[in-house]
Amino acid sequence: MEQSADGPCSVCGLVPLAPRAKGTTHVVAHSIAMQDLLKRAARFAGSDAPVAVLGETGTGKEVVARIIHANSPRAKLPFVAVNVAALPAELLESELFGHGKGAFTGAVAARHGLFASADGGTLFLDEIGEMPQPLQAKLLRALQDGEVRRVGETQSFAIDVRIICATHRNLAERVRDGNFREDLYYRLKVLSLEVPPLRARKDDVLPLANHFLAEEKHGPLRFTARARARLLAYTWPGNVRELENVTRHGAALAIGSEIDEPDLPEELLRAPAATRRAPEPKLGTFQTLAEMEREYVLRVLDACDGSQSEAARVLGIARNTLWRKLRSFAGSA
Ligand SMILES: Nc1ncnc2c1ncn2[C@@H]1O[C@H](COP(=O)(O)OP(=O)(O)OP(=O)(O)O)[C@@H](O)[C@H]1O
Ligand SMILES: [Mg+2]
Repeated sequence: MEQSADGPCSVCGLVPLAPRAKGTTHVVAHSIAMQDLLKRAARFAGSDAPVAVLGETGTGKEVVARIIHANSPRAKLPFVAVNVAALPAELLESELFGHGKGAFTGAVAARHGLFASADGGTLFLDEIGEMPQPLQAKLLRALQDGEVRRVGETQSFAIDVRIICATHRNLAERVRDGNFREDLYYRLKVLSLEVPPLRARKDDVLPLANHFLAEEKHGPLRFTARARARLLAYTWPGNVRELENVTRHGAALAIGSEIDEPDLPEELLRAPAATRRAPEPKLGTFQTLAEMEREYVLRVLDACDGSQSEAARVLGIARNTLWRKLRSFAGSA
């Protein structure tokens, strides 16, 4: 499945990202794992509860946050993103909450913070695991009371902001180590989503690579079969962002219209190529095609929470074909 600017996705019902969102306006999700995640995101979009988006670096946490916002009743109001790890504590405080006139040297005029800028919309707090402790307390108060107070002022004012936060850290571990407030942790993760690493959703690798290639300005380009095998064999520690960079690297080095093995970064060439064949299992251990089909169909149905129409869509078959298959499985079980 690839979401396009044409309308809601047939599987998860999500509309594409807001066109003005930074970066991509498409979310590539061919794997069952990603489709499941988007379906959960679609259910979360209607609620105002905070969402914690977890996952390794570069997996697409911000993309998921943006798509939740774009599908929420707040979609027409701002989506404001701030990287909590990028600023020192004092700056971050005035950045988030604003400051009064004369609150500190250089504060010649009062200024609204990002909470106020996001009023009515969504505030995305990236790298929340790095938030300094005193600010954690202030954020908790803002969430509990729906009010913020500018630095250097005594009066609070009401705000209506939905919080989505993200981290590549294990937040529960940060709580155990005393680096993250337990009360804030529970408040932020009312709803949570875990974006799987790219190596756990190989079905997304080539569609994502082609998606990034299509965004390149080097004319129509394609990966050779050998290059595709390299992309599939690699473990992608930097996840989707790394794949995006590798595609760019390949597009810059490609001669003609094909990206071949030598156009890929060295780390991909060091990994064993996918074309190397795994040792064949013993003949008696092979499954029949019918057994494999049964297992696969039931897995998809399970991933679709038992919805036959969704499963049929994912499998690319008619609903009554799926129904006939399920009936025959029941007979053969
Ligand atoms: N499913 C997807 N479809 C299309 N583009 C994607 C997808 N997932 C991620 N991307 C692209 O990959 C890049 C990394 O995504 P994003 O910034 O959302 O990751 P992240 O998990 O927030 O990373 P970090 O942990 O470094 O903050 C972005 O350019 C984004 O547009
Ligand atoms: Mg991010």
